[in-house]
Amino acid sequence: MFINNGFKEDFLWGGATAANQIEGAYNKDGKGMSSADFVEFIPKSQRTGDHNMDMTSEHVQKVLSDDYDGRFPKRDGIDFYYTYKEDIKLFAELGFKAFRMSIHWSRIFPNGYDLEPNEAGLAFYDDVFDTLLSYNIEPVVTLSHYETPFGLTEKYNGWVNREVINHFVRYTETMFNRYKDKVKYWITFNEINIINISPYTGGGIISDKEDNPITASYQALHHQFVASALATKSLKQIIPHAQMGCMLARMKHYPYTCNPEDVLKAQQEDQANLLYTDVQAKGEYPNYYHKFLADNNIDLEITDADLAIIKQYPVDYISFSYYMSLLSSVTPEGETTGGNLMNSLKNPYLTASDWGWQIDPIGLRIVLNELWDRYQKPLFIVENGLGAKDVVEDGKIHDDYRIEYLQQHISEAKKAIEDGVDLIGYLAWGPIDLISMSTSEMSKRYGFIYVDQDDYGNGSKKRFKKDSFDWYKKVIETNGHTL
Ligand code: BG6
Repeated sequence: MFINNGFKEDFLWGGATAANQIEGAYNKDGKGMSSADFVEFIPKSQRTGDHNMDMTSEHVQKVLSDDYDGRFPKRDGIDFYYTYKEDIKLFAELGFKAFRMSIHWSRIFPNGYDLEPNEAGLAFYDDVFDTLLSYNIEPVVTLSHYETPFGLTEKYNGWVNREVINHFVRYTETMFNRYKDKVKYWITFNEINIINISPYTGGGIISDKEDNPITASYQALHHQFVASALATKSLKQIIPHAQMGCMLARMKHYPYTCNPEDVLKAQQEDQANLLYTDVQAKGEYPNYYHKFLADNNIDLEITDADLAIIKQYPVDYISFSYYMSLLSSVTPEGETTGGNLMNSLKNPYLTASDWGWQIDPIGLRIVLNELWDRYQKPLFIVENGLGAKDVVEDGKIHDDYRIEYLQQHISEAKKAIEDGVDLIGYLAWGPIDLISMSTSEMSKRYGFIYVDQDDYGNGSKKRFKKDSFDWYKKVIETNGHTL
């Protein structure tokens, strides 16, 4: 009998980032504007809802006007465009085996629909990959992480339009041809499920331009599924040994009570979350999705050729983010709390981060087991971590709360491996402090490395090691034996 008793020898320990949250240099060396460059920082006291996760035509017009004076932290990131050599050196010191990053599509094709790539953008990523490889750090590359070129929004209203598939395919083929000797692990769309939650974030879509925004977001999703399968096809032709992954924000729903109606609701909400991996891993739309479309009068344009390509090119591995679990109830009364992409009822058995995200390490073991049972494909945790406010005391950051969060999650991942799950890696989100995706704050920090920069971009931008730096280093050094 084969029993797994820990992390594999070649386990991919490391960290994960996204270009728009770290690079900065948003208009340098030929880069075009992307969806992220329009996202404004609104201080918490002035926020009226989740308005900075989506975008209206009116807001875009305002931002485009010459006299508009807003703050757009994703334009500046943490200056990684200039500091990548010293940052990667710190990742090497941590012992990283892998580093997840994304390519800012508009650095390569400034408008998205250009026919020729921007050489300066290509050269930048060449150098980033070379630096990583010089430390034996495997790049894990997301092709689209909430960074749709704004030209595609202007010309097509983003992924709603089928034409965008062709532009994405040209972009991905350019990537595979250029980096074929450097990158083995690829991911098409970050958290592909966001497109039905925030169409702008996931697909560069301005919903008020659509007569039927719900149908538009599902049509856009279909286009992304086709684009992802076509990218997988090209990858197999250009770099046969490379691996393609899908990426899901896994949002496990528990029933709020043992009332079968709550259990059923949780199952349905879970299916709604697993739709994305069902399609990308199994290569077809599940029956429950056909029912969902019919029940909601969503009529999509899907061709036989689309279905054939989705079937023929499923992903090789399943990568996902995991931060929290959620509750489902048919009578959703009671206190709610914040969460990654979605809010939830409060779970009385869990504590939460300062942003209300409920901390559920055992949920990670449950999720890993379920994904493995369902797909039997290698699993890759490509995001997990705690966003917290750090305090600098005499140049030190004592972030035991972060160590505790990570320690508990990694130990549940280890138990899942012992349960029999095939887990190939663990990448902590934001190993170096970066701009928050949902709030554009800098003060929501995930890193082992502190960046001296505040929500308004003030600070020396110097990097400091937190206590969690030495802790994670030890975890990697001992391949997860010392947690
Ligand atoms: C994931 C995203 O949803 O969560 C990341 O892929 C994001 O881009 C991360 O940063 C954490 O969310 P936030 O809002 O705390 O930055």
